[in-house]
Amino acid sequence: MILVTGATGTIGSALVGQLLARGEEVTALTRDPARIEPRPGLTVTTEIRKASAVFLLAPAGPAIPGIDRALLGRAIEAGAERVVKLSAIATPEAGLNIWHRPGEEAVQASGLSWTILRPTTFASNTLAWRDDIRARRTIPNIFGEGRQGIVDPADVAAVAVEALTTTAHDGRIYTLTGPELLSVPEQAAHLSAVTGTTITTVDIPPAREHFPAEIADMALAGALLVRAGGNAIVTDDVEKVLGRGPGTYRAWAEKNF
Ligand SMILES: NC(=O)c1ccc[n+]([C@@H]2O[C@H](COP(=O)([O-])OP(=O)(O)OC[C@H]3O[C@@H](n4cnc5c(N)ncnc54)[C@H](OP(=O)(O)O)[C@@H]3O)[C@@H](O)[C@H]2O)c1
Repeated sequence: MILVTGATGTIGSALVGQLLARGEEVTALTRDPARIEPRPGLTVTTEIRKASAVFLLAPAGPAIPGIDRALLGRAIEAGAERVVKLSAIATPEAGLNIWHRPGEEAVQASGLSWTILRPTTFASNTLAWRDDIRARRTIPNIFGEGRQGIVDPADVAAVAVEALTTTAHDGRIYTLTGPELLSVPEQAAHLSAVTGTTITTVDIPPAREHFPAEIADMALAGALLVRAGGNAIVTDDVEKVLGRGPGTYRAWAEKNF
């Protein structure tokens, strides 16, 4: 039995589907069970239950350390043997995964078998552009020409499947990226080709007031880092784990736009 937290979200929902397709018994954690369709092999729960392996995901934001600690503690009490924590890419300048470090350290000190996944920016973040694209509005771009190794969430989930179901990735930290570096204007160019519309972006240097107050410092630091090229990182960790290269942003866009 594998317990997936964050099961209604981007990574968790992909992970549940991939685990079930592999024939695994899955328990999905959500605060609202009505959001998850019943499927063979799937149990839905609002509380952490006994499971051999747990996928640990906290929603983005400053509450990550507390949610990680609470979920991990309950998983240990319930008898889990293995934990796979979804973190975020770490950069030499720090900044992008500060909220995840306490959870990473707790997982490493837990006594369980562990794997830490540090994905870079998800391709699916650009789904937030859909309304602007439909309305033919210009996409605001706080990252300037800063490039990132945009990753397909399905690849993050596929790596999690391997880490949850085998011992081969115990004690490993993987930085998960796509195969190429892309700026926001370059992503928009792919989306223009995929949707057959001309999608334009406008450079808006980031400022605190662009973000909700509770995340403003962290979000501004992250945006400035990306803008300066500090997250221009591509790794071969997806290929090392899956034995195939990661999907491109273009391929993701063709499936999702
Ligand atoms: N977006 C990116 O580019 C990116 C890049 C790297 C890392 N990350 C990391 O990825 C994580 C987010 O993953 P995602 O995008 O797949 O998530 P998501 O789509 O935003 O979904 C969030 C999930 O968290 C659950 N959740 C909300 N509040 C919770 C709570 N108090 N306790 C337990 N679960 C709760 C939600 O479940 P219910 O509402 O059903 O309860 C939902 O399934 C964050 O930790 C973020 O730092 C994101």
